[in-house]
Formats: sequence, structure tokens, C-alpha cells
Amino acid sequence: MRVNHAGEVCAQALYQGQAVTARRNKVRELMRQAATEENDHLLWCRKRIDELGGHTSLLNPLWYTGSFLIGAATGLLGDKWSLGFLAETEHQVVNHLQAHLERIPRTDSKSSAILEQMKDDEARHKASALNSGGSALPDPAKKIMMLMSRVMTLTAYRI
Ligand SMILES: [Fe+2]
Ligand SMILES: [Fe+2]
Repeated sequence: MRVNHAGEVCAQALYQGQAVTARRNKVRELMRQAATEENDHLLWCRKRIDELGGHTSLLNPLWYTGSFLIGAATGLLGDKWSLGFLAETEHQVVNHLQAHLERIPRTDSKSSAILEQMKDDEARHKASALNSGGSALPDPAKKIMMLMSRVMTLTAYRI
């Protein structure tokens, strides 16, 4: 859940950054709305971590700052790429959550319920970004994003 929490920190920061540099107001609004929902996810994960007696990633300020800057830079590439980036991010998050749901102990129904709800929300974020004109990213960009999230996942798992 620490990794999921750190992921939500990143998602929120990315979309806040993207909102700052969005061109169209409609896109800015979509980014803000998504960021608000990521903040809900973040709070749910936080609460569950507290219940389980764990701690959040010590590197969260770093995840936040790095992600915000990446988000702002992505927004500068233009709305269709920024929306495409959001869609690809959510696509990868849905895959991650699905994989986590398959590994979580069956007895931990509270964590599963949180992850299921998050997965639904992330799928909806992806759909709304594509409906608003998001372009599919080139494969190398997707690969870089996967690599970065892999580094984040492995690091947040430990620290
Ligand atoms: Fe989320
Ligand atoms: Fe999302």
C-alpha cells in the first residue's frame, strides 16, 4: 500500500503540473478534477497504511516534486499529448493495480476494496482523457514511462 500511496502522490503531482501548463480551460479542468480524485485515493491508502501499522514512503516529497515538474513539462507539449500522457499513465496504473489485486492476501478485503475502487476511477480517467482528444503516445515514450514507474515502485517498496 506504500507503493500505491506513493503512486497516488505522483499521479496527483503530475496532473497538477499538467493543469498549470494546459492550453485549453477544459483540459485544465479535467486535470484538476483527476488530481482531486487522486488526492482521495491518496487519503484512502494513507488510512489503510495507518491501520496496517506501516509508514508512507520517506521519499514522497521527491516523488511529488519530480512528478510535478514532469507534469508541467508534458503540459507544454500541448493538450493532445498531455491528455495522451494521462491516458497512458492511467493505463499503466490499472495494470499495476490489477497485478497487486491478484497478489494481495484474500483475507485483506479492506485493501482490495480500496484498490478495486481506485482501479475503476483510473479507468474512467483514462477514458475521459481519450474522449477529450488525447493522442496515443509513441512506443518509446510508453517504455520510458514504464521504466520510471518501475524504478519508483521498487524504491517506494523499500524506502
Ligand atoms: Fe489514483
Ligand atoms: Fe487516476
